Amino acid sequence: MDFAECTQIDDYRSIVHTELSKLDVGILVLNAGIAKISSFRDLKNTDVQALLTVNAIHPIFMMKCMMDQLISRKCKSAIMLTGSGIRAIPAPGMNLYSASKHFLMFIAQSVGYELNYISANIDMLCYEPGGVKTNMTD
Ligand SMILES: NC(=O)c1ccc[n+]([C@@H]2O[C@H](COP(=O)([O-])OP(=O)(O)OC[C@H]3O[C@@H](n4cnc5c(N)ncnc54)[C@H](OP(=O)(O)O)[C@@H]3O)[C@@H](O)[C@H]2O)c1
Repeated sequence: MDFAECTQIDDYRSIVHTELSKLDVGILVLNAGIAKISSFRDLKNTDVQALLTVNAIHPIFMMKCMMDQLISRKCKSAIMLTGSGIRAIPAPGMNLYSASKHFLMFIAQSVGYELNYISANIDMLCYEPGGVKTNMTD
């Protein structure tokens, strides 16, 4: 499924309801991401839309729609988000990518504190890799 096309939280609510609610999901891994090397001015509007939708909106909407299911498990659960080390700098030429990963780390940290407060049964991790040779960087 193309996460760039899922722009409404109800899209996720419906996926979770039909596909995931009957599964015992123990670890929610939110890894999808896209990067474009370009100045902000030269980015196509469609790229701006896709970058923000896949890198920032998708993980937030999915995490929100899965949270009650994860918390209600008898065993321990976890949410794992793939951030990026580049978020530590403003990154000219990759500014939306860097900003979207900074957003991700911030929300993961703050929601992680809240989850710690209400339950010891769920862990939150936003890990931040450095440069790795993958399809994204080819
Ligand atoms: N490579 C690096 O240097 C590096 C560094 C730091 C962080 N990261 C992060 O690591 C994560 C994985 O990236 P990668 O390096 O392994 O690159 P990748 O091989 O291109 O993997 C990107 C993943 O995102 C999925 N994805 C992208 N756009 C999507 C969309 N519109 N709808 C649904 N799924 C979509 C891809 O699914 P498909 O395979 O189905 O296309 C793929 O599973 C990303 O969040 C990236 O930002 C990468």
